[in-house]
Amino acid sequence: MANKTFDAIVLGGGPGGYPCAIRLAQLKQKVLCVEKDEVGGVCLNWGCVPSKAVIATSHTFDKVKAGGSYGLLVDNPRIDANKLQDWKDGIVKKLTGGIRTLFRGNGVELLYGDGRVTGPRTVTVKTREGTTEVIEATKAIVIATGSSTIEIPGFKFDGKKVIGAKEAVSLRDIPRRLLVIGGGIIGMELGGAYQRFGSELTVVEALPNVLTGVDADVAAVVERAYVKHGAKIIKGAKALGHEYQKDGSVAVRLDVGGGKTETIVTDLVLVAVGMRPNGAGIGLEELGVRVEKGFVPTDNVGRTNVPGIYAVGDCSSVPMLAHKATKEGEVVAEVIAGHKAAKDWVAIPTAIFTDPEIASVGLGEQQAKDKGIDVRVGKFPFSVLGRAMAVSETDGFVKVVANKGTHEILGFHIVGPSATDLVSEAALALEMHAFLEDVGLTVHPHPTLGEAMMEAAQNALGQSVHLMNK
Ligand code: NAI
Repeated sequence: MANKTFDAIVLGGGPGGYPCAIRLAQLKQKVLCVEKDEVGGVCLNWGCVPSKAVIATSHTFDKVKAGGSYGLLVDNPRIDANKLQDWKDGIVKKLTGGIRTLFRGNGVELLYGDGRVTGPRTVTVKTREGTTEVIEATKAIVIATGSSTIEIPGFKFDGKKVIGAKEAVSLRDIPRRLLVIGGGIIGMELGGAYQRFGSELTVVEALPNVLTGVDADVAAVVERAYVKHGAKIIKGAKALGHEYQKDGSVAVRLDVGGGKTETIVTDLVLVAVGMRPNGAGIGLEELGVRVEKGFVPTDNVGRTNVPGIYAVGDCSSVPMLAHKATKEGEVVAEVIAGHKAAKDWVAIPTAIFTDPEIASVGLGEQQAKDKGIDVRVGKFPFSVLGRAMAVSETDGFVKVVANKGTHEILGFHIVGPSATDLVSEAALALEMHAFLEDVGLTVHPHPTLGEAMMEAAQNALGQSVHLMNK
């Protein structure tokens, strides 16, 4: 017997689930959101937002320390990790409170507890208070259960010396030495932040390069910056295990290839080897919903193979990005409410908060060539841009990839100051099927970093006045 009935139940209140629930309510649907931890999910509570607060502070700290070169003299700048954490926790509190307010304002009901799909229209929730509620959905159940941190053999998280990203954004002591296992997005973002706070950074990456999947020229700029700052980046190496030392340090054994091993002594180990989707073990398989390696596959409107059951965000597909989850959540809400909507975007931008930042959207040069497209590439370095010099951040460039014949823009790849903000213009360009001329002829204000977008497009056309065009 069901305790309550709704039009739709959204399982998970992260960046996929909560916008879905709000949009459903805006579309006059009676909706319940079930969340086992806290609304906002990983992203808001210990992922995207808190990490960016820590990273932004590390960036400012670095700039203050380097201030002497541009006449900014600050004696003995230092970090108060406790204060930083309190401030960061305040941001999280404000944002999660904001979601609860939006839920109340829009009429979304929120139930804290562990939910399981127990029928094609039924969710059973073990509530925080210890009760069990059986809830019925007349129209739809939306799975928005996100993803979880992967642990590897030999590195069981102990919350103190061997940690994951969750603990890494909450450190109240800056480690003297930090070893990061996994030179992916989290490892390079958080490793970089603590390096700027003063930690000696070592990154161990199993593959031949860090930041796999990012344009190779782009990744090289970031790697160079980290190494210049003193980081040791060990590539093609696998972490095998660790031993706690008497003095409180940790010895980490590495397989560095060619039958050789190496031991590195550190104070803290951050394991950042990826996330796995949370689609399995929540009752879906029993109902015949297809679950593949933890993912719940869907069609272009978010439907699973079982009518009435939808999935959005990390639990349904890669890329595991908050903004993709949100867009999917909104699309699914529209579809459930009977509106015409689909996952019909041209491209999903990425924004990586290394220092310098990385952002891209669309195809890379090689990807386009692999698709048999004749490409034209334009590039503009920040080192010759007045605004970049004025903010003292001249590493990096903007690269644009376009169809050689038609000039349609296929991708933008940015590494440098505010790359993560600049990429929105590129995303709009791709959505609108813009041509190089559209970006190149648009008047960009001077002096701004955005001029690099225009100049890259002009360079691809052989028309950049601030470069010797090839
Ligand atoms: P990742 O997939 O980006 O990188 C993991 C890295 O660990 C890979 O390069 C892999 O080769 C390496 N690795 C795996 N096993 C290893 C071992 N035993 N020894 C050494 N290296 C090993 O995963 P990450 O950084 O944990 O991030 C997870 C996901 O979270 C990202 O893929 C992304 O979808 C999302 N994310 C996005 C952010 C953003 O967009 N700014 C920020 C943080 C996370």
